[in-house]
Amino acid sequence: MTATQAKLTTVLIEEHRMIESGLVVLARFAAHIRRGGEPHPEVIDALLRFFSEFVEVVHQGKEEELLLPWMTRTGIPSEIGPLHRFQEDHQHLRDLFRHLSAMARHAELVDQDAQSFSRQAEELCLAYSRHMRREEESLFPMAEQLAEGSDGLFSWEEGLTQTMHQEHGELLRHLEHAAEAWPIEDVRWH
Ligand SMILES: [Fe+2]
Ligand SMILES: [Fe+2]
Repeated sequence: MTATQAKLTTVLIEEHRMIESGLVVLARFAAHIRRGGEPHPEVIDALLRFFSEFVEVVHQGKEEELLLPWMTRTGIPSEIGPLHRFQEDHQHLRDLFRHLSAMARHAELVDQDAQSFSRQAEELCLAYSRHMRREEESLFPMAEQLAEGSDGLFSWEEGLTQTMHQEHGELLRHLEHAAEAWPIEDVRWH
């Protein structure tokens, strides 16, 4: 371990907090659209960018390309049990996001389209928050237990992580600012 390396599970948990903030924005946007609010294409673009770049590539990429292979190398099978379950979960989350993305790009987001979009967004919020809870309650503690006494989880460059977090943190702050105008009281997920 060197001074430039951060513990992978700590980085992943930090990212979960950023994703949670993104989910709150998405849920508020869904409530706004359900009420017949204006779709704001630039907000939709920024939201889709946050989920496709930060959530799917930066975060899930780290879990799939660093954490899960490392756990497999310690002897935990990936075809069955908890690791298999997490991979299935990721695929399900990707499918939910693809569906939401297609709706946002090809529908008018008024009337029936608006109701369907809101339902799909809330389903993604609920599924993602449950997934992160399961990771924090079972997958990450299991990895930390396996790594005890070794530096196996200290494999991520802190500097690179901070650059990516800064870039997407700015996008998130822009989205949170926009979300202040949308109803928090109508949010159905949380
Ligand atoms: Fe995950
Ligand atoms: Fe995660």
